[in-house]
Amino acid sequence: MHQVVTIETQQHVALITINRPDKLNALNGEVLNQLSNVVRDVRFNNVVRVVVITGNGPKAFVAGADIAELHELDELSGSKFTAHGQDIFSLIERLGKPVIAAVNGFALGGGCELALACHMRFASDTAKFGQPEINLGIIPGYGGTQRLARTIGVPKALELILSGTMIDSAEALSVGLVNRVYPSAELLPSTLDFAHSLAAKAPLALTACLEATLASYDTTRLDGQYIEAQLFSRICGTSDFKEGTAAFLEKRQPLFEGR
Ligand code: COA
Repeated sequence: MHQVVTIETQQHVALITINRPDKLNALNGEVLNQLSNVVRDVRFNNVVRVVVITGNGPKAFVAGADIAELHELDELSGSKFTAHGQDIFSLIERLGKPVIAAVNGFALGGGCELALACHMRFASDTAKFGQPEINLGIIPGYGGTQRLARTIGVPKALELILSGTMIDSAEALSVGLVNRVYPSAELLPSTLDFAHSLAAKAPLALTACLEATLASYDTTRLDGQYIEAQLFSRICGTSDFKEGTAAFLEKRQPLFEGR
């Protein structure tokens, strides 16, 4: 089978690549199905502690949902289309392991939404971001209206969603859509270096940090603090917590084992 999504694992870091460069890595059904399978595998793979998602080729991270497939949708198939994409992107967001988007070019429509479902976005200085669905007479359907508004605020999200215009990585950095910008050649090595640095940390604590912080999207502050307190006490019972504090007191580097 032709792999339109590939995965390579190096130590504790998995690199997932959307591999359909002739169509600027547009998300058709095949790409979404393979992405879903790869993400599910990674979820239950205890060796993988951090994930990086990127696009193959010099031009695009992902240039959106496949417009030829979009064109065929009606109301019923449209409801399946949006539910399918939203499920996969929610799975990425709730993976329990840090996921970093290495945005190497166009991140448009579903591509911007995929990057938003990741926990952090590192971009090349050539990357471009946008939600151009309005130009096709449709709206974002893979969680973009919600995640973009929560990431950059409602007014800026509305500017992008209503106008369909693209912004470059400098502007994306200034509005908080991306965490870091690198020259193109440095994007992947620098993102992978960062991913390896996270992979050296205590995995159960990383998962708890994600769960507690992501709870801020969906809960009141007091409910979020309750979740934080539950997770804090659970992590106090782990060997890695004892190892981390002992290593500090003994002036050595900790070695975390995910226990
Ligand atoms: N769906 C399907 N095919 C797509 C695509 C998409 N979202 N984005 C790009 N492609 C295809 C093009 O049709 C073209 O295929 P072809 O060579 O068989 O004709 C190929 O990818 C290269 O794209 P092209 O448009 O020639 O590149 P460009 O550099 O001139 O323009 C973009 C780049 C990103 C500005 C342009 O491709 C574009 O606007 N894409 C659609 C973006 C979009 O609206 N996404 C949201 C969808 S909901």
